Amino acid sequence: MTIYNLGSINYDYFYHLPNLLRAGETLAAHEYRRGMGGKGANMSVAASRGAARVMHIGLVGKDGLWAKNKLLEYGVDTRHIASGSTTGHAVIMIDPFGENSIVIHPGANREITKDQIGSALREASAGDILLMQNETNQQAYTAKLAKELGLKVIYAAAPFEAKSVADILPYIDILVLNEIEAEQLESSSGQNLQSLRLEHIFVTLGSRGCKHFDKLKDKTAHFDAIPVEAVDTTGAGDTFTGYLVAGLDRGLSVEQSVLLATRASAIMVQRHGTSDVIPDLKDIEDEFGPQPT
Ligand code: RIB
Repeated sequence: MTIYNLGSINYDYFYHLPNLLRAGETLAAHEYRRGMGGKGANMSVAASRGAARVMHIGLVGKDGLWAKNKLLEYGVDTRHIASGSTTGHAVIMIDPFGENSIVIHPGANREITKDQIGSALREASAGDILLMQNETNQQAYTAKLAKELGLKVIYAAAPFEAKSVADILPYIDILVLNEIEAEQLESSSGQNLQSLRLEHIFVTLGSRGCKHFDKLKDKTAHFDAIPVEAVDTTGAGDTFTGYLVAGLDRGLSVEQSVLLATRASAIMVQRHGTSDVIPDLKDIEDEFGPQPT
């Protein structure tokens, strides 16, 4: 099947700092790097690296042809990436422990039109997946249309925006979020996570692994993370989501898909960068042995 990913595409600027900035502080970075990112693009690359067929729906500026070409190079179908004002960008500050603070300028990511969504989803079939996060516009419209067409809707609630999440919730089948976003969702909706009417909820817990609520079987499970020395956690959550969705799309079980996603993100946190350094299946096999099948 195909994963239709309505997702952001950013120019990522990485600054390695002695500490994350405090109010009023100016710091010189001891290292600087650029690359392709955006939560959406990272998820598309991860899903494609995880052997899924991925159609990215997005917008870059006239300055963004490089990003479109990169996605293509990484195996993502780019026919529904259109051209808008300026390509989105992110300023990413990273401390010596691998933690980050990120400022994004959405640019063209928030200029997606209903026509663009319509022409992309016209190619979709029932059983395909719609994947989304919160760095674009048109999520609620797209989710509603996708449900009408029989797609499974998977949503990563990042970055968390109470209104966007509330608008999309009625159309979601699978929700992926981290524990801070889970708390934000519970307090903004006034609802306990487990009472949400969804098929599956995955709460990522960083170095403590991941919690899975199987709402169909009324079961809760905990999956451990793989202990590694993290140098940069940027994009690790996106890598987890992209691989998880690729596994589910390829018909792997939840357990197998989470294992694959956990392995991919364990490698990712040991690398500097985002889309450009997401591991492929060969990297995962070299590090952890045969794939779950
Ligand atoms: O999750 C990491 C991503 O967040 C970066 O690639 C950056 O572009 C921001 O969107």
